[in-house]
Amino acid sequence: MDTQRQPARQLIGDPGFPAARRLEGKVAIVSGAGTRPFSGEPRIVGNGKATAVVFAREGARVALVDQRTEWAEQTQEIIAEEGGQAILIEADVTDAEACRTAVAKTLAEFGRLDVLVNVVGITGPAGTAIELDLEGWDQAMRVNVTSMMLMARYALPPMIESGSGSIINISSVSGLIGGHPSLLYPTSKAAIIGLTRDMAAHHGRQGIRVNAIAPGTVFTPMVASRGVTPELRQARMKGTLLEVEGYAWDVANAAAFLASDASRWITNIVLPVDAGASATRLQPLSPRSDGLLPPVRGEPVEP
Ligand SMILES: NC(=O)c1ccc[n+]([C@@H]2O[C@H](COP(=O)([O-])OP(=O)(O)OC[C@H]3O[C@@H](n4cnc5c(N)ncnc54)[C@H](O)[C@@H]3O)[C@@H](O)[C@H]2O)c1
Repeated sequence: MDTQRQPARQLIGDPGFPAARRLEGKVAIVSGAGTRPFSGEPRIVGNGKATAVVFAREGARVALVDQRTEWAEQTQEIIAEEGGQAILIEADVTDAEACRTAVAKTLAEFGRLDVLVNVVGITGPAGTAIELDLEGWDQAMRVNVTSMMLMARYALPPMIESGSGSIINISSVSGLIGGHPSLLYPTSKAAIIGLTRDMAAHHGRQGIRVNAIAPGTVFTPMVASRGVTPELRQARMKGTLLEVEGYAWDVANAAAFLASDASRWITNIVLPVDAGASATRLQPLSPRSDGLLPPVRGEPVEP
């Protein structure tokens, strides 16, 4: 809290002036803190990288967990260049022992643990129930869902001991709405929502908040490397209510809020960060009574 400026009145529940560094004093683990390299546009970042950088800017000390340390090194470099503190931990989060060690290393280095952001996720095998590869299904479910339980399994005890903690699981709007061309990805992202809600119920009385973020069609290297054409990129934007492109930074800022004490009364939610994309399907089903289309940005509007 800004100690220079105090509220004029002692109002019940008033948190005071917001601190510029909302995560000052906190220690966070971000899994999947690397970004897959994409030569087409090296300035695009993934959700884990952006989250780690934003958390460090907010004052947190961050453990960057990734199985590809070469992908997460740049995250650590950016944080160091900006005067923040981060350690790099190589771990495959599908492996229970690696998750246990990652938490132990974080505690050994920073002495506490306040926040866990489970970002790791993969697209997994393509196809319908008839077509998909069964081994690929099991492996991708382990990466997308089991890994979040495993990281929480070891992150929870020190949080419970200190009486507070925030766990943030990265789901997807495809876990909220139908329409994805493959079965694995949306199924795993919906499972993350169930996992979030039940973990929130199990650990609320221990002071632990558990929330999920459901990003929409953010433009990340994972997306760009699949060969998104300019037309498709435009269509992804147009498929939102705001009709603007979203980036990993938008996801990171939502995570920073859920990690901070500003969200102290928020648990068990799934926060879409999607420029309204998950609501757009309602539009064609609800035409205006005058038959006109709503005006778009830049069009003159007369009262
Ligand atoms: N890009 C989007 O549009 C979008 C939309 C909704 C949700 N998401 C979700 O956001 C998350 C991150 O997506 P991104 O596009 O930023 O991904 P990314 O592929 O750029 O980064 C993922 C990172 O996770 C790491 N990783 C993968 N498997 C791992 C494992 N087993 N153990 C440890 N680290 C591992 C990778 O090495 C990589 O550094 C995923 O969960 C994804 O489903 C992305």
